[in-house]
Amino acid sequence: MEYRKLGWTDLNLTTIGLGTWAIGGGDWSFSWGPQDDKESLATISLAIEKGINWVDTAPAYGLGHSEEIVGKALKHLQRKPIIATKCGITWNKERKTSRQLSGKNIRQEVEASLKRLGVDVIDLYQIHWPDPDSELESAWQQISNTVKEGKVRYAGVCNCSIGQLKRIQPIHPVASLQPPYSMIERGAEDIGLLDYCREHNIGVVVYSPMQKGLLTGKFTRQRIEQLPEDDHRRKDPNFQEPRLSANLDLVENLQELARKRRITASQIAIAWVLRRPEVTAAIVGARRPSQVEETFLAGDLNLSDEDIKAINQIIAGHRKALNRV
Ligand SMILES: NC(=O)c1ccc[n+]([C@@H]2O[C@H](COP(=O)([O-])OP(=O)(O)OC[C@H]3O[C@@H](n4cnc5c(N)ncnc54)[C@H](OP(=O)(O)O)[C@@H]3O)[C@@H](O)[C@H]2O)c1
Repeated sequence: MEYRKLGWTDLNLTTIGLGTWAIGGGDWSFSWGPQDDKESLATISLAIEKGINWVDTAPAYGLGHSEEIVGKALKHLQRKPIIATKCGITWNKERKTSRQLSGKNIRQEVEASLKRLGVDVIDLYQIHWPDPDSELESAWQQISNTVKEGKVRYAGVCNCSIGQLKRIQPIHPVASLQPPYSMIERGAEDIGLLDYCREHNIGVVVYSPMQKGLLTGKFTRQRIEQLPEDDHRRKDPNFQEPRLSANLDLVENLQELARKRRITASQIAIAWVLRRPEVTAAIVGARRPSQVEETFLAGDLNLSDEDIKAINQIIAGHRKALNRV
């Protein structure tokens, strides 16, 4: 699989990283419903076997469970992947999450993540949400301290604006930004984040490239209705009207193109975000091995100019439809 260097760092990432949000399992506010740990471990093993060299996780995913599963997988893997995790979301005894960025909190979080993952150093440590905004600089300073102490190799952020990046860059160099980016969610392009990261040599690892599974072509209205009660996608506006009809139309058009190209809609969705040179890698979520079998192939898929033109037309139609709702 193709490798791209993460900004100014010496981390060479495969263009696909494995996302482990769903692997965290159920029973918390942003869960993806129940998950079988054995399937999760098999999924991680297969991803590494197929050449994926990095895994993105977070303490919030399953309230520690995703990191524990990644840690369990690491024990048995011969080729150890690069590990990216996060800080800034904690939870209480009632399993209720909250966003926190205090220095004390980050110190505790980094120790807890090292323990759950069973590693001596975290390769990429990212602020999950810049919230509360007023504590961003002090949180970043604290993360800088963990780098100096050798607990973290590189520090990055998720979900930050250009203004927020500008505020933290003088404190400690920003290795990476993790924004959402897909055919449906194009904010990273629209507000100039990709351009800014190129100009400042900041790596970009984009999340939800298949819009949480919607762009795989395997979602119908019926499947959405049958999602487990604790699958947070039930409440996601992209899985609900009035956006849902426009989204499903986009997927249908994408599938038609995919059929002509003898590939799948998921593969096109991933290759499309990777067409931008600023994007170091796409973080692709999977919860069972068969999903990796399909998606890892997108890491080396180059879309032709003709394909891009056809996709742009599909996206333009989708935007028009959304403007009407
Ligand atoms: N920093 C942040 O704030 C943030 C936010 C979101 C995500 N992330 C990271 O980015 C990763 C990827 O994003 P994501 O998981 O939200 O979305 P995604 O990669 O767009 O979609 C992943 C989901 O799609 C479904 N899927 C995957 N492969 C499939 C296939 N071949 N066929 C059919 N369905 C398939 C699976 O769910 P089902 O089988 O249940 O449909 C899977 O969990 C996350 O896991 C996480 O590591 C970070």
